[in-house]
Amino acid sequence: MTLQPKHTKISREIGFFIATSKEDLADCTHIKDAVFFKEQGISKQVIYDTEDKTAIHILMKYNNSPSGYGRIVLLGSKAKLGRIAVLQKYRGKGLGKELVKFMIKQAIRYNINEIFIHAQYYLLKFYQELGFQENGEPFEEANIKHIEMSLKV
Ligand SMILES: CC(C)(COP(=O)(O)OP(=O)(O)OC[C@H]1O[C@@H](n2cnc3c(N)ncnc32)[C@H](O)[C@@H]1OP(=O)(O)O)[C@@H](O)C(=O)NCCC(=O)NCCS
Repeated sequence: MTLQPKHTKISREIGFFIATSKEDLADCTHIKDAVFFKEQGISKQVIYDTEDKTAIHILMKYNNSPSGYGRIVLLGSKAKLGRIAVLQKYRGKGLGKELVKFMIKQAIRYNINEIFIHAQYYLLKFYQELGFQENGEPFEEANIKHIEMSLKV
């Protein structure tokens, strides 16, 4: 088991936190509710699934305000990134990319050889720019077009 820093600040503006406290986890829930439930209309049953129990929950803060979320699920030799979200008012500043880069760095601290994601299809370019490659054909998940993408590490 690799030790990981609980708090990592990569610049004055952006901070990444491994959320374990009640407060940090509540901030994560707020972001998921705002983005996936309110904005994208995905049911809470789908958003909050059993993988949450074992996932590493990443909270991103921008100028000390909760602004983004993503989770890492370790599955043997693979890590699955998911639920990646940036609150609407913080988008378009490059925060989403920084969040995924941080999640990749965290994931490779474990003994894995591949990182994969069920990407919303409209974000194909976003994930390609981060080094992910498409696997197979697009599919529907939560009534949204997705594609599996992976990164060998
Ligand atoms: C996807 C998301 C996390 C990106 O966050 P962000 O902070 O705006 O991302 P960045 O500022 O780092 O964007 C970088 C690139 O992402 C791509 N991108 C971001 N939003 C996009 C959109 N709505 N449509 C298409 N491409 C998009 C662009 O290529 C952009 O590059 P550009 O700035 O050169 O145009 C954010 O839009 C979000 O939370 N969306 C809703 C939830 C979601 O769909 N999550 C993905 C689940 S797989």
